[in-house]
Amino acid sequence: MQTITTVAELRATLAKARDKRVGFVPTMGYLHDGHMALVEGSRAQCDVTVLSIFVNPTQFGPNEDLSTYPRAFLRDQKLCRDPGVTIVFAPDAQEVYPAQFETFIEPGEFAKPLCGAFRPGHFRGVATVVCKLFNIVQPDIAFFGQKDFQQCAVVRRMAIDLNLPVEIATVPTVREPDMLAMSSRNRYLNTEERRRALAISRGLLAAEAEFRSGERECEKLIAIARRHLNEVDRLQYLELVDVDTLEPASNPLSHPAALCAAAYVGSTRLIDNVILKPQVSA
Ligand code: PAF
Repeated sequence: MQTITTVAELRATLAKARDKRVGFVPTMGYLHDGHMALVEGSRAQCDVTVLSIFVNPTQFGPNEDLSTYPRAFLRDQKLCRDPGVTIVFAPDAQEVYPAQFETFIEPGEFAKPLCGAFRPGHFRGVATVVCKLFNIVQPDIAFFGQKDFQQCAVVRRMAIDLNLPVEIATVPTVREPDMLAMSSRNRYLNTEERRRALAISRGLLAAEAEFRSGERECEKLIAIARRHLNEVDRLQYLELVDVDTLEPASNPLSHPAALCAAAYVGSTRLIDNVILKPQVSA
């Protein structure tokens, strides 16, 4: 496992591996098992895995947690040693955004609902840094977690729209034993908040169970989830959207849809989702 901090060195190193299948796992660090599942996905399909660690300033709003976002570089490096990461790419902000940087990717409709409605500019920052990282690494496949459902949709749309020669793979959400979705931000939660944060997965999974038992009415599925969510401090959204369009799903549910939630527990904003896939009848 090699750690590289400059674009030039990464390019020179990867130039020697151009006959190999390169997998890419973009992260903001503070790695957990959810990230490791992305690494595992890459290891299974690729010869080389590049994992980037970069807390991207352009995807944080002015009142968000950029300065306090958890960072643990040495621990992250150690975690990357075992499971098949070939290169950790850990550039600093100047390396990614040189002086006078002014060119951004502006995502379209996919960036507007859900998190986009509450975090203006967030997906512009995500799309811009992901596009830059794709250009730097030039991976064959890039791996993203389903927890960031809308991010996956925005990135996949960008790759199609801009003819980026990369396959986008989505890896299922990894959960703690009590079903809280893994997230670097979980570390902000104190014991009491950590307990109440479980309401989010509990609600989503209750709706999923009802869906498996045959419920196909969108409002009923949302209502089941909502019943559990009274333990959070502020529910930002709870929406059932079509996975392909991100528009509100329609009754009766007959096309895959994502039930997505974002909520504050204390001052920590958490997101989670479940994908509901009706069987397509022959
Ligand atoms: O999902 C994340 O950690 C970030 O949004 C990403 C994709 C690494 C871009 O900064």
